[in-house]
Amino acid sequence: ESLHCDFCNNKPYKNKMKCIVNLFLLLMFIPDSDIPMMEGDILIHPRGRSAINCVSCLWPKSADGTVLIPYNLSSGYSDLFQNSLQEFHTLTCIRFVPRTTEKDFISILSTGGICASFIGRIGGEQQVYLDSGSCMSRGTIQHELEHNVHRRQSRSDRDDFVTIMTQFISPDKIGNFDKMDTNNVGLEYDYGSVMHYPGNAFSNTSGQATIVPKPNPSIPIGQRIGLSPLDVSKINRLYQCDDSGLLLNSANGTVTSANYPSTYPNNSTSVWLIRTPSGQVSLQFIAFDVQFSTDCVSDYIKIFDGPSKASPVLLDRTCGMGLIPQLISSTSQMLIEFVSDTSITATGFKATYTSVQCGGAFYAPGKNFTSPGYPAAYSPNMNCIWKITAPAGYKISLTLHDFMMESAPNCIYDSLSIYDGADTSSVLMVKYCGTKSARTFNSTGNAMMLNFISDKSFQYKGFLASFKWNLPGFCLLQ
Ligand SMILES: *[C@@H]1O[C@H](CO)[C@@H](O)[C@H](O)[C@H]1NC(C)=O
Ligand SMILES: *[C@@H]1O[C@H](CO)[C@@H](O)[C@H](O)[C@H]1NC(C)=O
Ligand SMILES: *[C@@H]1O[C@H](CO)[C@@H](O)[C@H](O)[C@H]1NC(C)=O
Ligand SMILES: *[C@@H]1O[C@H](CO)[C@@H](O)[C@H](O)[C@H]1NC(C)=O
Ligand SMILES: *[C@@H]1O[C@H](CO)[C@@H](O)[C@H](O)[C@H]1NC(C)=O
Ligand SMILES: *[C@@H]1O[C@H](CO)[C@@H](O)[C@H](O)[C@H]1NC(C)=O
Ligand SMILES: *[C@@H]1O[C@H](CO)[C@@H](O)[C@H](O)[C@H]1NC(C)=O
Repeated sequence: ESLHCDFCNNKPYKNKMKCIVNLFLLLMFIPDSDIPMMEGDILIHPRGRSAINCVSCLWPKSADGTVLIPYNLSSGYSDLFQNSLQEFHTLTCIRFVPRTTEKDFISILSTGGICASFIGRIGGEQQVYLDSGSCMSRGTIQHELEHNVHRRQSRSDRDDFVTIMTQFISPDKIGNFDKMDTNNVGLEYDYGSVMHYPGNAFSNTSGQATIVPKPNPSIPIGQRIGLSPLDVSKINRLYQCDDSGLLLNSANGTVTSANYPSTYPNNSTSVWLIRTPSGQVSLQFIAFDVQFSTDCVSDYIKIFDGPSKASPVLLDRTCGMGLIPQLISSTSQMLIEFVSDTSITATGFKATYTSVQCGGAFYAPGKNFTSPGYPAAYSPNMNCIWKITAPAGYKISLTLHDFMMESAPNCIYDSLSIYDGADTSSVLMVKYCGTKSARTFNSTGNAMMLNFISDKSFQYKGFLASFKWNLPGFCLLQ
């Protein structure tokens, strides 16, 4: 008898009593900590055996190649929930869609501190417990959602990659470490998976790890920042999705168009989602050569301030040759889309990205920006850059409405420097510190750069700035 889709804490449902006890323990004694439940977060369906009606626990694929997973969301979730879904949508063919009348769906509920779900599709309504407070990190949301997408768990070849320290696991928890006979879809072991246990999972002895990576114990495991590139590949292989997008999740790296520096392919669309572990993404182009067309209707690059093509645009359709100014996203996610049509191609682009802790890049007027945390005190040891780029011929008018930083002769400790141009080689208009009243600075060209620096001691509220730009002789664009 096959009980594939019926799991209790990751074990085939053999002992009903034990299962009920486990579920009871799960629901009653989930620690109110921000370490999410790991294998212990897998639920058993109350309908038990009658729920066993799927072959692989995968969700069906639509004719257009997407896999729809209908969801019903209870109230009280922040934007982070939608943000977490968008990474699946951008990088895989999975689409979480609000449920209308579908029979099979996931029901997302906020229940006292619990982050738990079933694994795979089980049929009918399946609950996902995601406490709208304690489960709200992108990685935890994605971890629970990925449980619903497929049922891959502990790999059969796990012992080649980690040592399980059974001496620190109580007998009633050891079941969480059972190996499963998994098909690993040809992918290497993923220490960086959002599905991986952290090193201290189920340890009964404080400070003692239960999982130690081989051969190097310091390999990080148990991250909950978000999907890993291999998590994405795993989903795409299991569902045989077309190549969707590439995830770049390091603190820094390089992005190039396909075949760079040879010509990029005809008739293709590529996306890269850059998600740095923290901070904001700064992207600097090193080379750019994309077939020119009026309004870039043929080939183009477009860059978004967030994880999806529905996010605000950082750089609108751009083509041709030349320099693209540095881009800084407002969060840790930036999406690059590159499209080529069926004719003429060029060498494409090369860019590097790094994680920055603050700053921004503005290509449209009418936005206020502040030092990090304003009006609360900024952090020590910050170095932030904001770049304002107006269309050619325009001039920028920047106003500091409020300003308070540590005061020192020549502003040697904390300072805000304003440059009349795109970088620090431009003329320094002012280097500010202390307390200043409102003041406006006008550029002579179409670019302005601000550099905010704080040292290790004495923090103040910082600044609030706004900017406009105008063509000389015309009225200001707000
Ligand atoms: C979603 O769940 C709520 C209760 O949380 C229920 O009232 C509503 O009918 C559900 N909607 C759908 C489409 O399942
Ligand atoms: C931890 O688990 C080990 C192995 O099961 C057991 O021998 C030990 O007594 C447990 N320690 C505590 C403090 O429960
Ligand atoms: C890139 O990240 C690595 C760690 O991931 C770090 O050691 C290195 O200094 C970073 N390089 C730059 C240029 O930021
Ligand atoms: C472009 O690619 C699509 C599939 O990716 C294909 O269906 C279409 O025929 C291609 N067009 C040309 C002109 O090659
Ligand atoms: C793209 O297609 C054109 C003809 O439409 C062809 O001349 C060219 O070599 C192709 N370029 C690439 C990189 O395949
Ligand atoms: C920017 O800040 C100024 C000063 O506090 C305020 O008057 C203005 O409404 C703000 N503008 C926006 C777009 O938030
Ligand atoms: C800056 O430019 C604005 C708009 O052209 C003008 O009203 C203002 O007087 C200028 N300020 C300074 C300090 O030059």
